[in-house]
Amino acid sequence: MATASSSKLSQNSIASQPHAWSFHDNVAALPFSFAIICLLSVFTLLYNKTSTGVYSSSARWNNVSFIVFQEPDWTLLHKCVEQYRTQNLRLLQTLSQGLDILLHNQELTNLDRITCRVQNRIDRLSKIFDQDQDILQRQLFVPFDTTYVLPDGEPTISTNAFPSRAVDHSYDDPHQVVAHIVRDWTAEGKQIRRQLYDWCLSKIDKPGLRILVPGAGMGRLAWELARNKHAWVEALESSVGMAAAAASILQRKQSGMIHPFSSDQFSNEVNSSHRYLRVQYPDVDDVEIFEGHLSYTVADFLSLNSVLGNNQSQLDAVVTCFFLDTATNVLEYIAMITKLLKPKGGMWVNVGPLQWHQKSLIRLSADELYSLIEEVGFKIMEWGVDVAPIEYRSSDKLVRSTHYDAYCPLRFVAVLD
Ligand SMILES: C[S@@+](CC[C@H](N)C(=O)[O-])C[C@H]1O[C@@H](n2cnc3c(N)ncnc32)[C@H](O)[C@@H]1O
Ligand SMILES: *[C@@H]1O[C@H](CO)[C@@H](O)[C@H](O)[C@H]1NC(C)=O
Ligand SMILES: *[C@@H]1O[C@H](CO)[C@@H](O)[C@H](O)[C@H]1NC(C)=O
Ligand SMILES: *[C@@H]1O[C@H](CO)[C@@H](O)[C@H](O)[C@H]1NC(C)=O
Repeated sequence: MATASSSKLSQNSIASQPHAWSFHDNVAALPFSFAIICLLSVFTLLYNKTSTGVYSSSARWNNVSFIVFQEPDWTLLHKCVEQYRTQNLRLLQTLSQGLDILLHNQELTNLDRITCRVQNRIDRLSKIFDQDQDILQRQLFVPFDTTYVLPDGEPTISTNAFPSRAVDHSYDDPHQVVAHIVRDWTAEGKQIRRQLYDWCLSKIDKPGLRILVPGAGMGRLAWELARNKHAWVEALESSVGMAAAAASILQRKQSGMIHPFSSDQFSNEVNSSHRYLRVQYPDVDDVEIFEGHLSYTVADFLSLNSVLGNNQSQLDAVVTCFFLDTATNVLEYIAMITKLLKPKGGMWVNVGPLQWHQKSLIRLSADELYSLIEEVGFKIMEWGVDVAPIEYRSSDKLVRSTHYDAYCPLRFVAVLD
């Protein structure tokens, strides 16, 4: 079994494992997350060697580990799919009401063709919703293999180690997850990735760097950094829904088809049949990472504080893509980034808008952010706001809609000095 190592660890406390190790022992020698992944890869490699005698190919031990500090709330996945189902049903009901009006209309005659088209729309959508719900339920929103990492190797995690914050479940919504699959793992999202992720990659000029990608979403940027820049990458993401879908692609290496535009608003449509567009994921033949390393931690970015304590980590880079504006208090994010980076030469690469989330307490403008970042000790090497907007989900929205949302991201590179 290729993945016996992680399945063996999952659902068990690390203390009951013969391979339990202390988190702290390694912190001094290695930055925390890389201590984890180094040990994991060594552990996994050894395990495969002892269980099968040989490890037949790198693919057998190169599965992306999904690291958790505490048991994820798996019931959430089911709840999210049920909510999605309910929303879709409501949408079909609304369409049926429209159809009723057409059928009982007294004002106009000869509406057979349009009535037929609306009926057809309902039938097609109903089928598509069933297909998508099925793939969510069977593939994307299912519990994944986890690897427990507990501070001090404690058998159970004390809940006050991770002070509870107001949990935001908006990114667990299947609509969000599907949108991020399009952005990260389909041909339709390629143009967006070229404009955002390629730029981030271009800032990494050496192989083997240790990089953290907070708010990693579906993990493509982290994956590209590992695969193309041969970096040791830790993706970090708080949404269990995102992580579950990312695990389907990166850990279980599943593929599938979805209809990402099926439940878009019935407004601003150019051509009604564009709604049924089906996309294939992933857009790559294999997701193996050959020379770099990727693991994916499911945790709140700020919970790393509890893991690090007062210790400074030594990461070479933190890459934030459409993440900074998710902060409730951006000062906490910046402090965290500063603490994670090598104090001398650690690099922060950022791309994304300043569309501060609803709960954001400090809604800085780009120029204010510039002052702040400089003030806390970064040297700003590069700074600019795009003039051309970039769409979020797929690059053809303008074709499908008479209105579209897009962002002019702020891009910067700042180095601790
Ligand atoms: C706008 S999305 C961007 C995702 C990805 N970086 C991309 O560009 O496609 C922001 C992501 O950050 C995650 N996120 C928000 N707050 C977070 C936090 N405090 N810790 C970890 N992840 C967080 C969300 O769950 C979501 O997946
Ligand atoms: C690990 O990857 C292999 C293919 O490379 C896949 O067959 C297997 O299911 C994966 N393991 C897990 C736990 O998903
Ligand atoms: C609408 O889109 C479909 C599918 O792309 C295409 O076959 C059809 O010709 C389009 N209709 C119009 C009026 O452009
Ligand atoms: C911080 O580092 C010191 C020395 O390396 C170690 O003893 C301590 O346990 C670490 N604290 C945390 C919270 O990791």
